[in-house]
Amino acid sequence: MKLVATIGIILQVVQHLSAQDCLSRNYGNGGTVCVCNSDHCDTIAPIKKLEGTKYVKFTSNKAGLRFHKEEGSFTKEGSDVKNVITVGTKMFQEIIGFGGAFSDSTGINIKSLNADLQDKLIRSYFSDEGIEYSVGRVPIGGTDFSIKGYSYCDTENDTVDLELNNWKLASADTDYKIPLIKEALKLRNNEFDLLASAWIAPNWMKTKPGFLERQSFIKDEMYQVWANYLVKFLMEYNKQDISFWGITTGNEPLTAYLPNKIPSVAWTVDGQKKWIRENFGPTLKNSNFNNTKIIIVDDQILLLPIVPDQLLADKEVEMYVDGIGIHWYLEIGDFPELLDITHKNHPNVFMLATEACNGYVLNDVELGNWYGGESYADNIIKNLNHWVIGWIDWNMALDVEGGPTFIGNNVDSPIIVNATAQEFYKQPMYYAMGHFSKFIPKGSVRIESSQFSKNSDVLDIAFRRPDGGTTVIVLNKAENDISSTVRDPRKGDITMTLTANSITSIVYW
Ligand SMILES: *[C@@H]1O[C@H](CO)[C@@H](O)[C@H](O)[C@H]1NC(C)=O
Ligand SMILES: *[C@@H]1O[C@H](CO)[C@@H](O)[C@H](O)[C@H]1NC(C)=O
Ligand SMILES: *[C@@H]1O[C@H](CO)[C@@H](O)[C@H](O)[C@H]1NC(C)=O
Repeated sequence: MKLVATIGIILQVVQHLSAQDCLSRNYGNGGTVCVCNSDHCDTIAPIKKLEGTKYVKFTSNKAGLRFHKEEGSFTKEGSDVKNVITVGTKMFQEIIGFGGAFSDSTGINIKSLNADLQDKLIRSYFSDEGIEYSVGRVPIGGTDFSIKGYSYCDTENDTVDLELNNWKLASADTDYKIPLIKEALKLRNNEFDLLASAWIAPNWMKTKPGFLERQSFIKDEMYQVWANYLVKFLMEYNKQDISFWGITTGNEPLTAYLPNKIPSVAWTVDGQKKWIRENFGPTLKNSNFNNTKIIIVDDQILLLPIVPDQLLADKEVEMYVDGIGIHWYLEIGDFPELLDITHKNHPNVFMLATEACNGYVLNDVELGNWYGGESYADNIIKNLNHWVIGWIDWNMALDVEGGPTFIGNNVDSPIIVNATAQEFYKQPMYYAMGHFSKFIPKGSVRIESSQFSKNSDVLDIAFRRPDGGTTVIVLNKAENDISSTVRDPRKGDITMTLTANSITSIVYW
């Protein structure tokens, strides 16, 4: 046998081994999950640069394809092609990336698996054979996805502790968050941006003690202590060699005005302005963490553009602020327009999607439901086509009930862990995230791409990668196949069939 042919066969075998297929399971919810167990877990090989007119295309769909890979070559521009998506050269915002949150529940669920499966799960998110997440959100203390409410400075009888003498990290940090973050950093060679957000302040700092109290504000005389508390978190994580790219002014202040009892610190716009201007801004900038970006809002998109307009109207506040964080839960009407207006009003302040999940309205976990993934892809495209620089999911792993959550706020997650069976399930949401996170590395820039019809079921978006490549992502929300052509005037045409309810990522150089 010829040596070259032998090597060819060996390479094919290696290639086959390096990307394992999905072990599909259908729970009857309109789609499938991929099961990972001791014998099996699907992977996706890292993307390799292609020469000339070659492209690579990955498809996932409701029918069960998962990162289905096909290679091809551009053809000459055709004259009778339909539904053309033209890729232009005009550049827009630079992308920071995609990721999820290191909530306590994420850690608890991962740790409920044996060591081999923990490794498979972590690699699924962060490794080159996974979906290569490059951003993570870290709760500062407890959230609703903890097994109890807590801050880092809870005192007996809520005694005031102005010097923060009682401040200490929780077991959730040392057992779950810190080890997991370290694994992620290692797998991504430290090319990983962390964002910190607080849900809960110590009772003794607040106008109404109790983690679930509605409209409980930081007392005026505690403004500086609350700023010190947050900077102390950056300091304590720094001792663990974990540094933060950004910190928000607090998770969802609006929630403190709503009837649902989710832990949250309330703010008025004027109160927060004063706190950023006189306390948080100067304290952070005078600390060792002076390059940490400050992100305001970290709350529902419907607050745009009014809340950022009001906060940033104060020029001193504006000086401290780098970005605006948005959540998708109370999305109503034409939200991309709100993004455009906010960008126009504050062109030097970035917008980042800092939290989203499914299952917060009716059902909690819907194993296999394709719509879960489709809704993620739809939202990511609409955000990133309107100036948003990245998209961060909520819990990275929940149990089969969508918990644990100490207030019973069960929701869905891209990975669901079944500790009893020692297996985990990758939901369509996992693949939807991957269609972006795997193919749009940090530092990519969005480029122009034409939607072939404004109100169509097909959405598209395109990026120039830092390695000079181009990524085009196309979402077909229709329940039927649609023929379409991606046209890059520099290369030619890719004519293809977008299968019913599918996401397609195409990369070429
Ligand atoms: C907390 O309150 C209880 C009951 O009033 C009291 O016995 C205890 O000494 C208090 N602890 C502190 C640290 O003040
Ligand atoms: C941060 O502080 C260092 C010194 O500690 C200083 O050299 C640097 O210019 C500061 N950066 C910013 C953005 O203020
Ligand atoms: C979890 O595993 C247990 C034990 O194998 C099984 O009975 C149960 O149906 C599984 N749950 C799901 C949602 O697959």
